[in-house]
Amino acid sequence: RAVLTSHWLGQNVKFLEEIDSTNNEVRRMAEQGAPEGTLVVAEIQTAGKGRRGRRWDSPKGSGIWHSFLLRPEFAPEHASMLTLLAAMAVRKSVSNVTGLECLIKWPNDIVVNGKKICGILTEMSTEEDSIRYVVVGIGINANTPDFPEEIRATATSLALELGHPVHRASIINGVMCAFEEYYDIYRETLDMSRLKEAYNQELVNVERAVKVLAPGGDYTGISHGINDAGELIVELADGSLREVNSGEVSVRGI
Ligand code: BTN
Repeated sequence: RAVLTSHWLGQNVKFLEEIDSTNNEVRRMAEQGAPEGTLVVAEIQTAGKGRRGRRWDSPKGSGIWHSFLLRPEFAPEHASMLTLLAAMAVRKSVSNVTGLECLIKWPNDIVVNGKKICGILTEMSTEEDSIRYVVVGIGINANTPDFPEEIRATATSLALELGHPVHRASIINGVMCAFEEYYDIYRETLDMSRLKEAYNQELVNVERAVKVLAPGGDYTGISHGINDAGELIVELADGSLREVNSGEVSVRGI
């Protein structure tokens, strides 16, 4: 059994050789009454899920496919920030364990040398106006030896960037410890006021030209990082500011 140095997150942990999706497994466990902090780690996911209904390729030995359970007492509208906290936790752990320069691409991708090494999928179950539970699912391309041609320009793994494999348990431990710390801070204010400075310092697309792909039409501007609500502040050519909500748009570097 791996020893995690976190206080509660991941202390109830289940390792699986193969599962459809660690998010699905945590959901099933949540429905059976599993405690907050329950962590599921799998070697293989046969139906790994990405955002927007996409598939997340999760072959054996290549990644860190894990999900954990939260039972927050705050209102559902505060849950979307949990994904940002998870991104901060992954960034901190990966850079501490590997020494790689690892940055956040708003809102919640993690990039090394400009290529994606991690994706996060947060799912929530609600009842009336309250949260039943939240599942935070994190996929880190740790020891993936190679990627299909189509995504080689945009995706990488820690092993590819380092030239040697990484110790996956150390990274998981770092994520658990860092998430606990950020979660405690977040729960006091229920906004990013005390975390945004740290977040913005770690942001790849800050003080840089970005293109916002919005349903109402694309536009470009300079990104100034996130506000207390986790929205990206983008300054347009005429000096006006827009607050970009991650649900609506996608932001590209230009
Ligand atoms: C994205 O589209 O960038 C999000 C990818 C999230 C993948 C992780 S892997 C562990 C967890 N289980 C899943 O089925 N998805 C998440």
